[in-house]
This record gives sequence, C-alpha cells and structure tokens, in this order.
Amino acid sequence: MIMASTLLALTLCSAGIQGKAINSVIGPFIAYAERFYMCETDNQPLLWRWFLRATHFNPLRPKELQRLTGNVTATGGLLDDSDWGPYIAYVERFYMCEPDNRPLPWRWVLRATHFNPFKPKELQRVTGNLTFSSGLLDDSDWVKVIVDTRSNNQWKENAYVLKFNDHACRAIKVNIPGFYEQFLKKREVKGACLFRPGVYETNDAPLNWTFPNVPALPYGQYRFRLMIGKAKNLYACFVADARAVPKTD
Ligand SMILES: *[C@@H]1O[C@H](CO)[C@@H](O)[C@H](O)[C@H]1NC(C)=O
Ligand SMILES: *[C@@H]1O[C@H](CO)[C@@H](O)[C@H](O)[C@H]1NC(C)=O
Ligand SMILES: *[C@@H]1O[C@H](CO)[C@@H](O)[C@H](O)[C@H]1NC(C)=O
Repeated sequence: MIMASTLLALTLCSAGIQGKAINSVIGPFIAYAERFYMCETDNQPLLWRWFLRATHFNPLRPKELQRLTGNVTATGGLLDDSDWGPYIAYVERFYMCEPDNRPLPWRWVLRATHFNPFKPKELQRVTGNLTFSSGLLDDSDWVKVIVDTRSNNQWKENAYVLKFNDHACRAIKVNIPGFYEQFLKKREVKGACLFRPGVYETNDAPLNWTFPNVPALPYGQYRFRLMIGKAKNLYACFVADARAVPKTD
C-alpha cells in the first residue's frame, strides 16, 4: 500500500491533514491523522468542507483504529468515480530528461509495441537497453518520481511527487515489478538488490505494467519522470509517457 497510501496522503494533504507514518522506512506502516482542517484560499468557504476529529492514536495499541467524528459537507458539485478505478497502464514513449542535454551516467533507449485497445490483456513488448556507465543501483540511492497529469489539453506538472531518500532499488522492485522482472531480475546475484555498471537489455519482452501499490488511478494521460541518484549525484532521469485505461474483465 506504499504508493497508494502516499498518493492518498498527498491528495488528502491538499485538503489539509497533518499526520505521521510510523516505521516510515520503506515497508508496511500504520498511518494516523492528528488534525483535519481546510486550506481555503482567503478563508472563503469552498463547496466541500470537512469538520472532523479523531481519537488519539495509541502507539501501545497500534492495531486499535482511530475513531472519527464529524462530517463532510458538500454544498455543490458531484463526487464521481466514473473516471477513476482499476486500470491497465501502457507506455507510449520512453525518453530521458537529461539537464542541458548532457548524458547522465544511466541512460535508457527503449521502444514498446503499440497497445491494442481491442486486446487489452495482451502485454506490450519492450525492446532496448538500460546502460549504466558508472554508479550502483542499490538501496543507498534515492529515487524521486514526478508524475504530470494531463487534462483540458494541458499538462499539470508535478501532480504527484514521491521521494524516497534511500532504498531506490527496493522501491523499484516493489513498485514497478514488471520492469524489474524484465530488466534486472535475471542479473540479480543472490537475491541482492544491487546492480553494477553494465548494459541491461531486453528483446521483445512482454512487460506487465502493474503497480501493485496503486490499485486504482484516474484514467488518462501521464508523464512519469523517474530520477535516481546518490547524494548530490544524479544518475538517471528517465521519462515515460503513459496512459491508464479502464481495466476490463
Ligand atoms: C458539521 O460539523 C460542524 C462542526 O461540528 C457543525 O458546525 C456543522 O453544523 C455540521 N454540519 C452539518 C450539516 O451537520
Ligand atoms: C500482470 O500482473 C498482474 C499482477 O501480478 C496479474 O494479475 C495479471 O494477470 C498480469 N497480466 C498479464 C496479462 O499477464
Ligand atoms: C542501446 O540501444 C541503442 C538503440 O538500439 C543502441 O544504439 C546502443 O548501441 C545500445 N547500447 C548498448 C550498450 O548496447
């Protein structure tokens, strides 16, 4: 639930929750809220407001759920989930976001077969390589994911920003398992999440873009920027233009 909860937390953040995650190194965690409020501009009431309070979280009884009291009052607008739900993701283009067009130590050159909307269960096949010319991909690296979303023919930049200060390798393995499986898994040594400089290739490999920690998303167009580095060094700035379409049974 890491990503989903983080997305939810980020979404809720924009409505104003102060909270804490315990055991916040990558891994299972329990989240609780400390305060609910609103971030209405100029203190003008918006259409939707909430008035909530929660019981204290008891660290000695972490399984005891917080109890909530209050209301969410919508005086207008609709909360509609028809454009949000379980999805199939596919990539339209892979490229890089290298600052000043200078090559970074890690590069990817990838292409994918077209997604066929009439055969949504058929996986895209990916061909190309990831080339690491220096540095290690391991759990001492940080990773930052910036997601831009598209609506009304415009990009909304930085719609979601997730940053893990370490555990980059595990974050990729857990959150983008299909990618890990095709490019990295076969080069694992004794199960360690550690990859040395080299060329990591695939040829026509079926890639299952499932994100187990993000079971539902708004449907539409996305631009993912995946940055990985260590301390002040940026190793990679990978971009994938992608889409999420409704999952059909
Ligand atoms: C919602 O809760 C607030 C705070 O307790 C209260 O002032 C308000 O009347 C409630 N709204 C409704 C519609 O019940
Ligand atoms: C992709 O992976 C998910 C999760 O493991 C699985 O449920 C799904 O069946 C896979 N899709 C295909 C087409 O193999
Ligand atoms: C990676 O793929 C690109 C495009 O196919 C190719 O030009 C390049 O030589 C490949 N790199 C390596 C190290 O194989």
